[in-house]
Amino acid sequence: MVAPQEQTELPIPNGWFAIAWSSDLVAGTVQRARYFDRELVLYRTRDGALHVLDAYCPHLGAHLGEGGRVIGETIRCPFHGWQFGGDGVCVNVPYSKKPPPAKARLRSWPVCERNGFVFVWHHHESVEPAWQPPQLPEFSDPNWTEPRKLELKVPIHIQDMAENNCDPVHFRFVHGNLALGESSITPGDEPHFFRAWSRSTQQTPLGTFETELERNTWGLGLVSVRTRGIGEAGLMMLAATSPIDRTNTHSRWLFTVTRDMADLAGEDFIDALGQGVLQDMRIWKNKIHRPAPVLCDADTDLAFFRKWVRQFYPPKSADGAAERNGAGARP
Ligand code: FES
Ligand SMILES: [Fe+2]
Repeated sequence: MVAPQEQTELPIPNGWFAIAWSSDLVAGTVQRARYFDRELVLYRTRDGALHVLDAYCPHLGAHLGEGGRVIGETIRCPFHGWQFGGDGVCVNVPYSKKPPPAKARLRSWPVCERNGFVFVWHHHESVEPAWQPPQLPEFSDPNWTEPRKLELKVPIHIQDMAENNCDPVHFRFVHGNLALGESSITPGDEPHFFRAWSRSTQQTPLGTFETELERNTWGLGLVSVRTRGIGEAGLMMLAATSPIDRTNTHSRWLFTVTRDMADLAGEDFIDALGQGVLQDMRIWKNKIHRPAPVLCDADTDLAFFRKWVRQFYPPKSADGAAERNGAGARP
């Protein structure tokens, strides 16, 4: 009998994940969202505070993101008008003479805004955030252009998308880089961070250059990619990636270049980076997840990545268990 084809679903990892663009949420806005396999509601109060709550009302289950309204610092359910504060506690039942029932509360998610993204902290045991996502200097530097945006939804687990950053060889086969040079990984002082660095020969709109790629990674939700070596020009791509559920991922990208190259080739570079992301799509859309991949001796960065990601999962998850049992090691 032929064994069924392997198909493993990884759990949803812990960490900070972008669930919206900050600019879409002006004061008084309510927005629904679906991430971490849950329905969520985002709202910005009249004072500008941003809150993220579970979406379904504890009363009769209406979705607060469909007709809910901001009333001062609270959100009001569209069905019977119960009002909830940013901490998820019901503060008013408009047709009752008694205080709201103690059980009338929604889960409130830790939230922060950086680089134009709204990030939410997801943790399996609801542990409070151990770190904060960074604000990167390029996005407030007048020498860099106003960032361009790209959004993609990909039917793949977030880990498999992130793995590309520790996969220097794919730049040659998927993205057509001419030659691959050295690459290295430097773990950070904090376990959720690492820096991957690689050199390659790249054809660009300005000619062929020896370029350096510096990729900084904060958990599974945020990666910055800086390209250096094209004259004095600077090129920066920031990817904020979030799990919609266990098999679907939402990626938001920002691209910016130094103003000295903006007129010369800025648009071409931004287009080329966008095309690069699309080149990965065919692989992402059609691959499976290998919990115990067969790696070769040169796949050192991939081996590092598989070990590093375990910290974001509950200890007994399928992937973590498979890899702890010795599979996934290099020969
Ligand atoms: S369902 Fe929300 S107030 Fe009734
Ligand atoms: Fe790629």
